[in-house]
Amino acid sequence: MERLDKIIARAFALGRRDAKRAIKSGAVSVAGEVCTDCEAKVAPEQVSLHGKPAQYQEHLYLMLNKPQGVISASESAREKTVIDLVPPRWRRKGLFPAGRLDKDTVGFVLITDDGVFAHNILSPKKHVEKTYYVQTDKPVPADLPAKFAAGVELFDGTLCMSAALEICGEKEAVVKIKEGKYHQIKRMFRANGLSVTYLKRTAIGAVALDESLAPGECRELRAEELQLLM
Ligand code: URA
Repeated sequence: MERLDKIIARAFALGRRDAKRAIKSGAVSVAGEVCTDCEAKVAPEQVSLHGKPAQYQEHLYLMLNKPQGVISASESAREKTVIDLVPPRWRRKGLFPAGRLDKDTVGFVLITDDGVFAHNILSPKKHVEKTYYVQTDKPVPADLPAKFAAGVELFDGTLCMSAALEICGEKEAVVKIKEGKYHQIKRMFRANGLSVTYLKRTAIGAVALDESLAPGECRELRAEELQLLM
């Protein structure tokens, strides 16, 4: 339960004075009844202004902990997709994964119906870093961080942007990239003579995967997480 004027101010981006004025004018309802008491303690989900629910959110933003064996597509006749993992209460038209992980890659996938947001997350020009935890078949050479920082040239001649690599075990590393070329991490290691044996995306920008999500589970992004990505 929260004060009515606070709810109205936050939900409709109004100053407290304008929120109070709206309430006093009779424009605000609680559970369908007009309420003119600014200090009334009410449940936000029961509040509306001019009939528009205070909790109305145009778009949906989900954090999914992708398991292995699921593809990052909106639909597939043959394979299980990340959208198939979205529980019924969040199902809606137009949901898609903002960025793709390979079928065998696990971890953070953002699912949304907001195309502009997805573009901003994915465009290399926006510099939103994606963080990956990587395990390799052979020891990670000590000079690999410098090579990644200089920009790796893939076998087909494609040049990657500078990437940060931190060695965190004999055959383990954390890599941050700002672009999303096809199989990029695997190909960056391949170009340096190593194979990736396990790959997990652990963060998008400053938002880390919620480790309390079991593989296959998702939850809505919190307001502060969304803020960090907007
Ligand atoms: N790089 C890869 O090689 N695979 C992924 O799934 C993501 C990044």
